[in-house]
Amino acid sequence: MVRAELETADAVGADDRECEDRDWLDASIGELCAHIVAVHHDGLREAFPRIEALLATVVRVHGAEHPELRDLHDAFCQLRTELERHLEREETVLFPTCRELELTGAAIDEALLAGHEREHATTGDALGVLRVLAGDYDVGGALCNTHRALLEDLAAFERDLHRHVHEENNILIRRARQLATDPEAAHRSADAADSLPRCCQAWIAEQSRGWAPRRG
Ligand SMILES: [Fe+2]
Ligand SMILES: [Fe+2]
Repeated sequence: MVRAELETADAVGADDRECEDRDWLDASIGELCAHIVAVHHDGLREAFPRIEALLATVVRVHGAEHPELRDLHDAFCQLRTELERHLEREETVLFPTCRELELTGAAIDEALLAGHEREHATTGDALGVLRVLAGDYDVGGALCNTHRALLEDLAAFERDLHRHVHEENNILIRRARQLATDPEAAHRSADAADSLPRCCQAWIAEQSRGWAPRRG
């Protein structure tokens, strides 16, 4: 129901995966949330079983000689469980609440925003663990074609999550916080569009050894 509302509130094509260079600073909160669900959340839900299947194969074939692959499998499954809960909370609570704030000025709990930022930081830590266990996604060290496909898929998984969290932390949550505390300033900031990056590539590079700053 919430997903349907998000997708119909502002038309964002489900096949717009190539539109990532769009400046989401100009989008409404409803449009941004619909984009995040259609591109990043649905993309994750497609990636989870595909990557788990690759991991299962690689562990079965190479796990005895490479125990780190079992650790990689376990770490990925744990992250999947945490992210599935996180996505559900965003689609049922955070995104509808942010939309309501934008449309009606309804109050939003700062603890809700801060809680999601903390979960994003935890996700960043988990991605760092995956990267170490996967040998920095260096396909030069691939044990077989399936292992190579796994490393490439995990690297893409990490890239998309970086962009996903950037759009939530630095655009959605930032704008919600501004709307909640100073609506006029929020509009001025959006108009100026000078305080956030046009694209997250620099941010991704900057965060290659870490994640968004933790709050509190
Ligand atoms: Fe999300
Ligand atoms: Fe999130």
